[in-house]
Amino acid sequence: MAKLKIGVLISGRGSNLKALIDACAAEDFPAEIVRVIANVTGAGGLAYAEEAGIPWQMIDHRAFRDREGFEDTLHRALKDAGVELICLAGFMRLLTESFVNRWWDRLINIHPSLLPAFRGLHTHERVLEYGARFTGCTVHFVRPAMDDGPIIVQAVVPVAVDDTAEALAARVLREEHIIYPLAVRMVAEQRVRVVQDRVIVQGAGTPRGALVSPTLHRVGPSKTPNHTQSARAR
Ligand code: GAR
Repeated sequence: MAKLKIGVLISGRGSNLKALIDACAAEDFPAEIVRVIANVTGAGGLAYAEEAGIPWQMIDHRAFRDREGFEDTLHRALKDAGVELICLAGFMRLLTESFVNRWWDRLINIHPSLLPAFRGLHTHERVLEYGARFTGCTVHFVRPAMDDGPIIVQAVVPVAVDDTAEALAARVLREEHIIYPLAVRMVAEQRVRVVQDRVIVQGAGTPRGALVSPTLHRVGPSKTPNHTQSARAR
């Protein structure tokens, strides 16, 4: 089967782009990156595209009078490159409804939280402020509202008691690098269907059991039932 042609849009560091490049390097991976586009001059991630010999382009949104002008150019560039699926990878620019409509169910994004919780910026700071015990990351189809759309894959990451936003971001990012290629594989293998704005993945399994956090350190024999420990033992 022909590989799915993907276009990756970035605004910065590009570590998720790098994870996708590495995944695509495997012969049996069902997708290939045909174009990388950045909207911010000096986006560090472009170096990964250059290194891998992938055609890349700078389309600086500030060079356009309005969003429509920027998005028309973006759309044309992606079409010219033969892109079939767009992957937003740290692309920090909201796309208009008209652009999203043109790429309906062919436009995916990664966000560093368990959506629909903690949409938007400064995710990890807000997770810590809220005192959430778990966070994670999500790959989803893009809908016009920010960080909204049918969920393809999520990974759950525990929040440690002494976490800083940086430590938490790094722990989540490691999982992002796993689930983004996984989501692209699922789409490229045509396992993913959107039915009534929810994703069904053909041939997908579900992990068994549950995670509980925090757990208690045992300080001696206890006669009272401990839900945390019984849940852990399951
Ligand atoms: C990633 O953590 C990604 O999830 C986030 O930006 C970072 C980009 O890192 N995206 C969003 O917050 C989108 N709402 P990267 O440039 O190293 O891939």
